[in-house]
Amino acid sequence: DSFQFPRDGRSVTQCRICDTPIKAFMTFGRMPIANGFLTPDQFPQEHFFELAPAFCPECGMLQIVEQPAPEMMFHENYAFFSGTSRYMQMHFQRMAEQVMATILAGRSDPFVVELGSNDGIMLRNFAAKGIRHLGCEPSENVAAVARSQGVNTLCAFFGRDTALKIRAEHGPADVIQAANVMCHIPDLQGVAKGVEALLKPDGVLIFEDPYLGDVIEKTSYDQIYDEHVFVFSAISVKNAFARHGLDLVNVEPQVTHGGSMRYTLAPKGSRPVASAVEALLAKEVAQGLDKAATYDRFRANCETSKRELVALLTRLKGEGKRVVGYGATSKSTTVLNYTGIGPDLIEFISDTTPIKQGKLTPGMHIPVKPYGDFTARYPDYALLFAWNHKAEIMEKEDAFKAAGGQWIVYVPSVGVV
Ligand code: TMP
Repeated sequence: DSFQFPRDGRSVTQCRICDTPIKAFMTFGRMPIANGFLTPDQFPQEHFFELAPAFCPECGMLQIVEQPAPEMMFHENYAFFSGTSRYMQMHFQRMAEQVMATILAGRSDPFVVELGSNDGIMLRNFAAKGIRHLGCEPSENVAAVARSQGVNTLCAFFGRDTALKIRAEHGPADVIQAANVMCHIPDLQGVAKGVEALLKPDGVLIFEDPYLGDVIEKTSYDQIYDEHVFVFSAISVKNAFARHGLDLVNVEPQVTHGGSMRYTLAPKGSRPVASAVEALLAKEVAQGLDKAATYDRFRANCETSKRELVALLTRLKGEGKRVVGYGATSKSTTVLNYTGIGPDLIEFISDTTPIKQGKLTPGMHIPVKPYGDFTARYPDYALLFAWNHKAEIMEKEDAFKAAGGQWIVYVPSVGVV
């Protein structure tokens, strides 16, 4: 047994969806809370757990064996604000417009609920159109930002109890949405029960999350961190929600978060199943997402990626080059702690989120500095941790390139661009 860390009671030996015994196929080792940016006085209390993914051979769900308690991740100092990216704002505006033009078309006084509504980046589009809406968000600080922008927000974790409370107060929902949230919730069964309790018979559940097919194809192992208890595929989503009377009726690939999938689910038999669903299920079988051997290959690819990134940074340091990180993303916590890359190899990480600035990264304790520190004195190399925002970042960083700066990337493979 490779596990070296004490369990905190939230680790599983059976699949969270179907109870089949599961075992980790690799370990990323000792990991802190991905968004746990901290100050030196907090070092003694820093929480670590073992980050180890497992694949359920029965229902196909990829999940981490141990997940820290939700209160350790989502609280009044949650460091992730969705609204920091302009592209993401546009993405959610388009998603809201699509929902209004299709599902909500012709409905009188519809009601839209969003789980994990964060700073209201999606719901503000419904609020602006006067559509009844409610966000359900457990982190008080981001919920407060949403409210200040006119987005109705309930500060709570979503489950059957919360669903019944919402229904009693507002009536049933036409649409329940979630973006980059569903994969955070270990009790997916509880969420499904909540959806059952809140959704109209002709309503839909629409959610999107980083897609397993992309993670495997691109070796984007940094999508695996504490908050992401699951990495979904069409296979696993179909199986998980079928248990709660919901059909997977559509799938739509998204470019966000380095490759995501949007899943639409509806009460059994209430809607036709789009041909895209069968097509994606077949593609996943062809890619081997349903086979354990695929995850052994993924582990080998992660090991190669780690070796190459450490070798590259070590060489650059030997050459006396300055390397700075770009974007103190949640994902970077996995990369840094798995590879053991710390402040000796990366001078600091530049990030535009005020709550992260002036703090140190979880585990490896690399300083996080405001964006101005990056532009004030360009480094020789910038390691692109926010690789999922590459298009947006390249668009605005011409001056860095012009000054001779180079980008280091590690997805889909380690290199300088
Ligand atoms: P995410 O990858 O989880 O969306 O987090 C993106 C992080 O990167 C967030 O902390 C903000 C930061 N960031 C920048 O510092 N500059 C940028 O141009 C963008 C798009 C993000």
